[in-house]
Amino acid sequence: MATPDVDPDLTAELLDVALQAASAAAELVHGSRPADLTVETKSSATDHVTNMDRSSEALVRRIIQRRRPADAVIGEEDGGTATDTGVTWWVDPIDGTTNYVYDHPGYAVSVAAWVDGQPVAAVVEDPTHGRTYSASRDMGAFCNGERLQLGAPPPLSQMLVATGFGYDPARRSNQGQVVASILADIRDIRRMGAAAVDLCSVAAGRVDAYYEVGLSWWDLAGGLLVAMEAGAAVEAIEGGPPRPGSVLACHPDRTAELRDLLLTAGASGL
Ligand code: IPD
Repeated sequence: MATPDVDPDLTAELLDVALQAASAAAELVHGSRPADLTVETKSSATDHVTNMDRSSEALVRRIIQRRRPADAVIGEEDGGTATDTGVTWWVDPIDGTTNYVYDHPGYAVSVAAWVDGQPVAAVVEDPTHGRTYSASRDMGAFCNGERLQLGAPPPLSQMLVATGFGYDPARRSNQGQVVASILADIRDIRRMGAAAVDLCSVAAGRVDAYYEVGLSWWDLAGGLLVAMEAGAAVEAIEGGPPRPGSVLACHPDRTAELRDLLLTAGASGL
């Protein structure tokens, strides 16, 4: 992805706003989880939204709008419009809603500021594991204040690869076939349930790579900067810049091999 020319003071301010908003929202969803969670369906019978997704997004929006009233904000639940110039915030108020509904660890709040269409500052709060991931452009990635940096990658056959599945039944079935096809050529697969956390897990070395098709920008916008700043290559599975339809995050020395494996398995454009 291109490197935007952003004043370091603005970058620091955006990171500070992201930290405040993501931390408040994570405290709300995790610390004040109601006994009577209201759960509704969205795009399919398995795609859920809860009252806490909506409350979390409203809280993040209030904090951003108080501190940065002129910026655009786009969230999973209430939408919005990006700006080509200036600051756009991408908000996933609960990434991993299925985990949240089941009270299963590993959901996250993701808040990312993009400037002129490029990621500049991001925070992914993973409250069930007590992890705050943060990154700002060219200033590194951190987890709870500790710098994240990818180590030397294992060979492809030893790689632990994370992925996720969409909500559309036909797409899920195809995604399952891709997993079945690559499983003999890698160490194993992990499906944790939150794309933002998966990208941060690449940064932290908890998995060696992550790929998925059919996401939305709010799933990706924060975690991809954390992965990039830790030294991962974050691209589309077919190559070129990542996009919601296709993302592959991996050590740069293994990207070509994993890409070949995924493309041979039919992972592109499912
Ligand atoms: C989902 C999660 C999941 C991924 C799905 C996403 P949501 O986001 O990130 O890991 O596999 O494709 O839609 O719906 O929980 O915000």
